[in-house]
Amino acid sequence: MERGTLTPEETVLACSENLLQTYFSLGLAIPNTTMIQEEGFRACVGEFDHPICNFAAGLNLDPWSAKQLRELAAKKKVFNVYTLPSDKPRHVGELLYRCDFRVGYRLIQMVAEPAGRHYGPHMRMAETAERRIETAQFMTEQFFNRQSESFRQRVAQATADASNMEIYELLVYDRRCGAIMLCPGDGVLGVYNLCVASANRGVGLGKELTAWALSEAHKRGQIVTLQCDARLQGWYSNQGFRTTGTIDVYTLSKSVSSDIMNAT
Ligand SMILES: CC(C)(COP(=O)(O)OP(=O)(O)OC[C@H]1O[C@@H](n2cnc3c(N)ncnc32)[C@H](O)[C@@H]1OP(=O)(O)O)[C@@H](O)C(=O)NCCC(=O)NCCS
Repeated sequence: MERGTLTPEETVLACSENLLQTYFSLGLAIPNTTMIQEEGFRACVGEFDHPICNFAAGLNLDPWSAKQLRELAAKKKVFNVYTLPSDKPRHVGELLYRCDFRVGYRLIQMVAEPAGRHYGPHMRMAETAERRIETAQFMTEQFFNRQSESFRQRVAQATADASNMEIYELLVYDRRCGAIMLCPGDGVLGVYNLCVASANRGVGLGKELTAWALSEAHKRGQIVTLQCDARLQGWYSNQGFRTTGTIDVYTLSKSVSSDIMNAT
């Protein structure tokens, strides 16, 4: 699909589809994980007790499927439900709330037009399995430095194994100082895991990575989408991104989930 032909509604839909593609690719790359496709939602369910492979998204809920989702979530130690701007019906949050789901945190969905700016620092695609895992490990160190080494290793392996994701390293004097993951979709290029090594932050490398992603999208004739924490919304706005919606992350309220588990 040509990006010029995307209406605002199609843009939101394409961005949400990009997120779904990415989250499911990563989740399903964790061993012993399966996908469940129901009328009202898509879910990823895995043995590893982490939301990376235990979540539902792509919602089209009614009261019955919301209860079905509640039952599924109650069986798991951890389970996230992501509401996207393209979900149906509009009051999807209310249906979840009535089934004892509560919002844990919120991400901002943003979009930018591509830009053909020349890029300075050297970007290299991680092409071999070895480079993919090394760069994925670098990413997990930047994002999950407080989590256990074994958790980081699993996420890094899933990231490296998700073969539809393109992984790039930012090299300064041949040293990996930043990284980014691109998920190419229909008319949209998804940016994930954009990060800079903690020792190299605050000198403009994050902005360079973003500018590089915009120029990469320009070459491909795509717009760029990403999801970020509200604290980074201003930072991305200054780099040409606009907000297209929010992604709420729901979990089952703890007391309810244990009540249901004890009752069975
Ligand atoms: C966000 C990140 C990529 C920025 O990289 P960086 O190289 O420090 O960014 P730059 O030097 O280009 O820009 C620094 C600016 O970003 C702001 N900034 C950086 N992290 C921020 C945060 N978490 N919240 C708010 N502002 C932030 C700084 O205050 C600084 O502002 P200034 O330009 O007004 O001085 C880096 O902090 C990082 O890797 N964080 C961990 C991973 C992450 O959260 N990635 C974002 C995924 S959406």
